[in-house]
Amino acid sequence: MDYADLLIETHGKVAVIRLNRPKAMNALNDNMMNELGDALRRFDADSNIGCIILTGSDKVFAAGADIAAMANYDYADTYNGNYIGRNWEHILDVRKPVIGVVAGYALGGGCELAMMCDFLIAADSAKFGQPEITVGVTPGAGGTQRLPRAISKSKAMDMLLTARMIDAAEAERTGLVSRVFAADKLMEEAIGVAQIIAAKPLSVAMQIKDCVNRAYETGLTEGVRYERRYFQAGFGTPAQKEGMSAFLEKRKPNFEGL
Ligand code: CAA
Repeated sequence: MDYADLLIETHGKVAVIRLNRPKAMNALNDNMMNELGDALRRFDADSNIGCIILTGSDKVFAAGADIAAMANYDYADTYNGNYIGRNWEHILDVRKPVIGVVAGYALGGGCELAMMCDFLIAADSAKFGQPEITVGVTPGAGGTQRLPRAISKSKAMDMLLTARMIDAAEAERTGLVSRVFAADKLMEEAIGVAQIIAAKPLSVAMQIKDCVNRAYETGLTEGVRYERRYFQAGFGTPAQKEGMSAFLEKRKPNFEGL
């Protein structure tokens, strides 16, 4: 996999996709988003991969949509061309777990892309913000929708209306990120978390992701009903046989290929 605006690594069953436009603070342009969709689709289909990390550099996850590329767009360019909709949301179709790993800035579309990941791990250097109002537009990739769900309406309104950034400690306190690590240990720790997930039965990891997202998109009752079907169906799978037998036999489960 050779891309102009991404760097790719694998660590056993963990794939790492790095946004890589260092001269433009990883601003998200069409080519990068097309490449990201391609890389995500390939890793989702690769049976050797159990968990995907999406990250940037140690300075920036992404400073938003590429302002230089979009500054001269008119309405026909964005509406007829389905700007954002055409290539930013492939990540939502990925069935395997995707962890967003953020060091430095995650702003505007960068924060929105991070929030499309299943959960976020941050360096203590991370800064999150939705400064679109300052460049004269609303957020366009879900910022007004996912941010209030992630951190409460009041905090989200504050960030969206004032354009203020929050640091890693505030992001963890408000639930936007699940864990914070020292910047120099970030990737090692994040890959460790991804390896724990990749060693679990992939089928169950994908079902859990599907259930959580189902509840996120619908209501509690519908979400619990959805979960119950997966739970019951699980008793027809090798993962359940192996997991419960291993517990009773006091040994470690082997979920390879499950
Ligand atoms: N688009 C295009 N280029 C960008 C960019 C962006 N979003 N963010 C930074 N860059 C470029 C700068 O223009 C600059 O390029 P030059 O060296 O050629 O001048 C380079 O990256 C370095 O940036 P700075 O000199 O500004 O670096 P800094 O350390 O002083 O500041 C920053 C860093 C706080 C991230 C600042 O660059 C910044 O505020 N960037 C814009 C953030 C923003 O407004 N994002 C929202 C975009 S709109 C959006 O995302 C819409 C949506 O919802 C989908």
